[in-house]
Amino acid sequence: MQPGVLSAGIPVLGICYGQQLITQLMGGRVQPGEKGEYGLALLDLAVDDSPLFKGVTNHQQVWMSHKDKVAEPPPGFRVIGTTSTCETGAIENAEKRIYGVQFHPEVVHTTEGMRILSNFLFDICGCDKDWNPGERVELTEQQIRDRVGDRNVFFFVSGGVDSTVAFMLCLDALGSERVTGVYVDTGLMRDAETQFVRDTFAGLGLVRIEDCAEQFLNALEGAREPELKRHIIGEQFVKVQERIIEERGLLNGKWILGQGTIYPDTIESGGTAKAATIKTHHNRVPGIQKLMDAGLIVEPLADYYKDEVRAIGRELGLAPALLNRHPFPGPGLAIRCLCADEDKPVERVPDGYLIPVKSVGVQGDFRTYAPVLAIDAFPTAASRLQDQATELVNRTANVNRVIARVATREGLEHQKVFASTLTHGRIALLREADAIVREMSAESGFDAEVWQFPVILIPVGAGEARDSIVLRPIQSVDGMTADSVSMPDELLHAMAGRLMAIPEIAGVFYDLTHKPPGTIEWE
Ligand code: XMP
Repeated sequence: MQPGVLSAGIPVLGICYGQQLITQLMGGRVQPGEKGEYGLALLDLAVDDSPLFKGVTNHQQVWMSHKDKVAEPPPGFRVIGTTSTCETGAIENAEKRIYGVQFHPEVVHTTEGMRILSNFLFDICGCDKDWNPGERVELTEQQIRDRVGDRNVFFFVSGGVDSTVAFMLCLDALGSERVTGVYVDTGLMRDAETQFVRDTFAGLGLVRIEDCAEQFLNALEGAREPELKRHIIGEQFVKVQERIIEERGLLNGKWILGQGTIYPDTIESGGTAKAATIKTHHNRVPGIQKLMDAGLIVEPLADYYKDEVRAIGRELGLAPALLNRHPFPGPGLAIRCLCADEDKPVERVPDGYLIPVKSVGVQGDFRTYAPVLAIDAFPTAASRLQDQATELVNRTANVNRVIARVATREGLEHQKVFASTLTHGRIALLREADAIVREMSAESGFDAEVWQFPVILIPVGAGEARDSIVLRPIQSVDGMTADSVSMPDELLHAMAGRLMAIPEIAGVFYDLTHKPPGTIEWE
């Protein structure tokens, strides 16, 4: 942020790090907190006349993700809200119209967050109340035409919501002769996915299917780290793209690459000025970045969140069955199939068992890559073990995720992590387990109740069965934050039963971690 923004006489709302930045730049003091605060907290209003909190109830639930805090607000500011671990939950200088909140009003877990944002936008800034992303179709299509000029667009579609909506916008904006779609079967897709894409786009006759499974799996051989996997996959996409462009004689300066990147993908890849890199999205690897720098990329949805993309898709007349599909990451099953460098035993710790397989988390503005804590308790819907998980992560150093044991062939004390890589066999095992989970959650109606339901394979087991399954159903609005949700007990028992019938599966676990501190995907 340009510090000049703060003296420009315009309203400013700093969120989380933003509140700290305002403090730092305006003469206050920021210091490391003794304890991190990740997850739910209660906000007490310190005053009753702040325009930011107009109509907001005292002692309301807010969502926190920070360790540093404002120790002393800048001169001219007053504290307008506190939590039990943060005396500066919110600050204001009403005269200058500059506000800061340590919590995140933009996430659903902050119960009255929308009211706070409405107060800021409509009362303090005086913005227009009638924002509707569906009405942006025409504008977005004009932006596509401006960006593309007289070139053509070459598009990778994945069968997911984002790339399909972006592709359809380009088709609408430019006409079918100027837009080419290619679906790459990376060998990392879910069961029956390629057929789904074939059926979906058959009517349009516009998508060509490239079978590149061997190419991707060979390139990934030996890769264990999430960032490396994403990097390799992104580069393989670029290779396929280069090959197709060459084969089709498109190297004449007349083409541009279209991508379905949406706003959260760019923030969490460190694409905005201040965001730390949490996960490099495969749409942001160096090969793609080079094309971006050369002005050879069009990303019509880069300013939108998922729910807005769905609204645009509805406006374009896309079928609900397509628009309501759960998100599925571009790198596919590769980032749901965890690998390990060496064999390592599970370790008994006071709160459970430390599983030395690393998963990605997000704590404050930082990405973490840490072991997982397993607790020996069946996650019945009534038990709400998720609340316990939040506490466990906050008080356990170096852990960002908690899972509960649903079923294992041997006790947790006998489990170990096995050295493992991405093999055809492990990907096939994960695909089989994922298909079972999808089938059962579709039949029971559970999949319509959750925003996404990753199924993860971890190299944890005992004896000959060396892999376990983690179930990770979550609720979210935009993928930026998420809640681990409980599953009906009967469904969970039945699902575990079918998964445990696969001889190579050693156990089934349930991820209890909200985001933050754990990301939705494990890698
Ligand atoms: P995380 O795991 O960061 O996920 O909480 C947020 C949302 O992004 C999806 N995701 C990805 N999508 N390429 C994608 O196309 C990726 O590399 C990637 N990583 C995460 C994830 O499935 C969730 O919906």
